[in-house]
Amino acid sequence: MGYKIATLPGDGVGVDVLKAAMGVLEAVGFEAEYKHGDIGWEFWCKEGNPLPERTIELLRETDCALFGAITSKPKDEAAAELCPELQGKDYVYSSPIVGLRQLFNLHTNLRPCKAYEGNPLNLRDDIDLVVFRENTEGLYCGVEWHPVPDEVKTAFATHPKFKRFVDVSGDDLAISTRIFSRAGCRAILRDAFEYAKKHGYNTVTVVEKPNVIRETSGLMVREARAMVKEYPGLELWETNIDAMCMWLVKNPQDYGVLVSSNMFGDIISDLSAQIVGGLGFACAGNIGDDYAVFEPTHGSAPKYVGQNKVNPIAMIRSAKMMLDHLGETEKAARIEAAVTRIIAEERIRTYDMGGTSTTTEMAEAIAAAAKEA
Ligand code: IPM
Ligand code: MG
Repeated sequence: MGYKIATLPGDGVGVDVLKAAMGVLEAVGFEAEYKHGDIGWEFWCKEGNPLPERTIELLRETDCALFGAITSKPKDEAAAELCPELQGKDYVYSSPIVGLRQLFNLHTNLRPCKAYEGNPLNLRDDIDLVVFRENTEGLYCGVEWHPVPDEVKTAFATHPKFKRFVDVSGDDLAISTRIFSRAGCRAILRDAFEYAKKHGYNTVTVVEKPNVIRETSGLMVREARAMVKEYPGLELWETNIDAMCMWLVKNPQDYGVLVSSNMFGDIISDLSAQIVGGLGFACAGNIGDDYAVFEPTHGSAPKYVGQNKVNPIAMIRSAKMMLDHLGETEKAARIEAAVTRIIAEERIRTYDMGGTSTTTEMAEAIAAAAKEA
């Protein structure tokens, strides 16, 4: 129906899984004009920018994007891989997906983690939880320094707790800030509560650490307490991030919707993914008011490049989330039914599931099942 979808394969296995997902979208009759965008490591090395301006322009002309995977490396390693002409010119690598989230204000990272029947990798078979991760603020805000300039040290010195550091030279200090806005907290909480209400979850668990990180975690928890009053019948649970990691291994079946800030949400979403099969199953939507990017949460897995080996289900489920987002719920439901069926049949198993099926075989089986669904 005239959709324009940006396809951003990115690096490594991102290319294979995106192709796999597009085959499944075709099988359910989703019609769109796909527009390829350059993104990732190749463009960092060649152009000093993993997210070229032309790609940003292209995204602005589309309804939403499907994103494969990217390679990210720490600052110095990244700088060392720049092409010779760009060396020594102060190019600083930053993750393009983090950049996209901030540029397009994709404030909500939605990560459903459900145990599919018959998946040999499930920790338990009765897990069905959804992580809502704040996606643009917190420790990912990018406000950080090394070395720390004097004026920044002076500003920090207005805080009594900084006393211990005033005599340390700026070169021997590194500061990364964790910034929360009330609006940012409320946006992620709102989405979490609305989702819980719409999909029949009984609890929303806010995962922070307000006993220690009093101001930022405190703000999130206070806003959650205020908001839950608008949702009679929904219970707010409050759990510290460290304890949450433990409970997710011990009693994951007790949890419904989890909501957290950026870094803690990143952590619990990997943990939640692992208890229902690992990164081969973990899908995500980066959703803002005007734009959205759907991606598997796994990386580019350089060691599996060109082997047609990785599990495409994470990417296929991300494409399914895109259909839901676009209101194509019937087609989305057919993909979901196909994934459910193929996992339950135990016929096709990629390496992560203990089998030898290829990326293509898994994708084709799901596509065929989706056609019939
Ligand atoms: C994720 C990833 C990213 C993140 C990386 C690739 C920057 O871990 O989407 O969870 O930390 O957000
Ligand atoms: Mg992560």
